[in-house]
Amino acid sequence: MATDSAGTRTEAGLEGIRDGIAQGRFPAHVFNDREIFDTEQRRVFSKAWCFLAHESEIPNRGDYVTRYIADNNLIVARAESGEIHASLNMCRHRGNMMCKSEMGNASHFRCSYHGWVYKNSGELVGVPYMKEGYGGRIDKRDWGLVKVRTDTYAGLVFGTLDPDAPTLEEYLGGFQFYLDLYLKQGSSGSEVHGPPDHWVTETDWKIAAENFSGDGYHTPVAHQFGFNLGYFASSGSTHSQGWAASIPGKGHGIGLGHTPGFPPFAGFPEELAEEMRSSLSPEQVEVFSQTRTAVGTVFPNLSFLMQPFSIVPGEAGVRFVTMRLYHPIGPGRTEMYSWCLVPKDASDEYKQEAYRAYTLAFAQAGTFEQDDLENWARVTRSAGSTMARNIEFPYVMGMDSTPDPDFPGPGHVVTPYVNDSNFRNLWSRWSEYMTGRV
Ligand code: FES
Ligand SMILES: [Fe+2]
Repeated sequence: MATDSAGTRTEAGLEGIRDGIAQGRFPAHVFNDREIFDTEQRRVFSKAWCFLAHESEIPNRGDYVTRYIADNNLIVARAESGEIHASLNMCRHRGNMMCKSEMGNASHFRCSYHGWVYKNSGELVGVPYMKEGYGGRIDKRDWGLVKVRTDTYAGLVFGTLDPDAPTLEEYLGGFQFYLDLYLKQGSSGSEVHGPPDHWVTETDWKIAAENFSGDGYHTPVAHQFGFNLGYFASSGSTHSQGWAASIPGKGHGIGLGHTPGFPPFAGFPEELAEEMRSSLSPEQVEVFSQTRTAVGTVFPNLSFLMQPFSIVPGEAGVRFVTMRLYHPIGPGRTEMYSWCLVPKDASDEYKQEAYRAYTLAFAQAGTFEQDDLENWARVTRSAGSTMARNIEFPYVMGMDSTPDPDFPGPGHVVTPYVNDSNFRNLWSRWSEYMTGRV
């Protein structure tokens, strides 16, 4: 890796960043830097478990979506057997992209260049001119699409390019306890409500991942209008209560906002709240009952948010869940995917209401989304400036917090949730990957 005057691009520089995080410092330039981006592609995204799709996006045989891990375009398809396969969207003959759609249904893919045909599970089944041209020199079993290792948790399909990566269960490392708050809403679980909103923003993926790992600090300021107009069922003065929970050594973190007196499960229809009480563990019910807002990130680039949002200002909020993926497409550039997740068992009426609340708050044109993006784009621009190469940010908030011994959930849990604890854990994990320790 090349050296620059600040020394931050060298291997030693990456080690220095790692040491800095332990002391509560993180450099500005990592949020917009070509070499950091290139290194992330190889060392983070080519090794971690990366989110691909929600199973409910491809419920039927033949359904597929195309998604990325790093810069690799993958076809994520439900095969005839019902199993989900992820295959590199690259013809083995000369490398043409096989599937040009982002989603659809197909039992086979036929290459538009020379006509090789593959099953949606990736096996090569058709080669034009096979006998006359290849004369037996091609064994179709050797030339299927390149497969990517996949695993699932509660409807989430992940993939990893690293054959030596730990199991997904080990990778999540107990964060499942918190993911269930989003994914097991009702005994049948959650499903996507329509396709994702999908757009490109001049924002570094890390800014979004950090924000959603529990940045309660920005909410009363960046989203002030939401409080003022009555969209958000809380007030700035109570916003700092709650917990920041993270899984040490794994990078995952969640902020759990709490407002004293806020009714448990508020914003859900009563019958759904009852179902959740019986399908989650007693410890999860205890956490959920005290949670007004839950905003979390699975390392590296998958986030969730759940909160009540008033469709009509001043009226009771409707609780919705958004799931979002930050696909890095360049230094300081991100392709965003944003879904609304709804409980499968809920009435159509509630699903529509939740989708409306999500759309107003956090879809592409959502009011909260726009507040965030405006700030994130400016952070990204500043981070790419020449002077930013020698600037560090303080990550020392809550450095002396002691874990809450009474909290029923796993991980390192501190209170209040306005705290840098989750961010230090997130960037500490990132630096383990960036320095080649993982
Ligand atoms: S590149 Fe696909 S058949 Fe030639
Ligand atoms: Fe925000």
